[in-house]
Amino acid sequence: MSSTSEPVRRVAIVGTGVIGAGWAAHFLARGLDVVATDPSPGAESRLRADVAAHWPTVTRVGLAEDASPDRLAFTADLETAVGQADFVQENGPEREDVKQALFAALDAAARPETVIASSSSGLAATAIARDCAAHPERVLIGHPFNPPHLIPLVEVVPGERTGEEAVARALDFYTAVGKKPIRVRREVPGHIANRLQAALWREAYSLVDRGVATVRDIDTAIAHGPGLRWALLGPFANQHLSGGRGGIAHILEHLGPPTEAWWRDLGDPSLTPELTAKLVAGVDDALDGIGVDELADRRDALLHALLALKAAADLP
Ligand SMILES: NC(=O)c1ccc[n+]([C@@H]2O[C@H](COP(=O)([O-])OP(=O)(O)OC[C@H]3O[C@@H](n4cnc5c(N)ncnc54)[C@H](O)[C@@H]3O)[C@@H](O)[C@H]2O)c1
Repeated sequence: MSSTSEPVRRVAIVGTGVIGAGWAAHFLARGLDVVATDPSPGAESRLRADVAAHWPTVTRVGLAEDASPDRLAFTADLETAVGQADFVQENGPEREDVKQALFAALDAAARPETVIASSSSGLAATAIARDCAAHPERVLIGHPFNPPHLIPLVEVVPGERTGEEAVARALDFYTAVGKKPIRVRREVPGHIANRLQAALWREAYSLVDRGVATVRDIDTAIAHGPGLRWALLGPFANQHLSGGRGGIAHILEHLGPPTEAWWRDLGDPSLTPELTAKLVAGVDDALDGIGVDELADRRDALLHALLALKAAADLP
């Protein structure tokens, strides 16, 4: 396998649910051929409908020359889908045993030089590739963020048996299709960004549980507060600015000790049926009857505008 090998022209999408459909729309929009596979009855028509629904959005972002939803092929046969692919993006269920069996089959079916990336939100490539007998050195995590046809971040996480060339090829490929990949330096459950989200959700659930805030209050606090800054700069750069001319060194000295005191009060909630019901009812209340599709459309339109502004801005 070489990082200077032929460019990727055909991507196999394995598993065509929420993430697989988003990836399919993205790769098609970048002018690639996509061959998709999913064992679920009716998967092909759902995928074609999802790609059609995403097409106006990816068109607004900008299509590559020759990009077309007609370059999407579907086969229920995994070997056929994967055997002709230059890159495989797996998006099956988030279960280690399911992914282990699936990756054994993918590894047996894919050409030796083809990178096989899992979209897994938190599993380790080392575990997923356990039963890969042929070429485990090309198996890694390529974790996107929903919606994958808009959010640039992809976390690339190699496993213990992943080769450097596969990592380089994955980073090159994701960059070439307009993504912002980062390499995660060590396998930990949830990679990086999902752990950070989990830390926030943990405290958000706890605040609801303790009656400090409603779901609506917390969504308002983040979406109209620090979330606005987080879309522009990361938490460290934002903290650096909070320190004025003294930067992060000053803020750590000034607000570090109180922050440590807050840490000691942070919650450790469990998702009991009562808390789960409270969170679900809270979201229902906060959204005032706006349906999922409509909310996603509104978010994606704004996200597209924000990404265009960010692309034109000179921020790190
Ligand atoms: N939903 C998210 O926000 C999100 C974000 C990033 C990554 N992910 C990851 O992406 C992956 C897919 O998540 P999703 O939300 O799209 O799930 P989903 O339930 O929407 O889709 C999973 C798909 O996998 C298919 N499937 C089941 N068994 C399969 C098999 N043996 N081979 C191939 N396909 C099979 C199902 O039919 C279904 O279409 C998971 O690993 C998840 O952790 C999800």
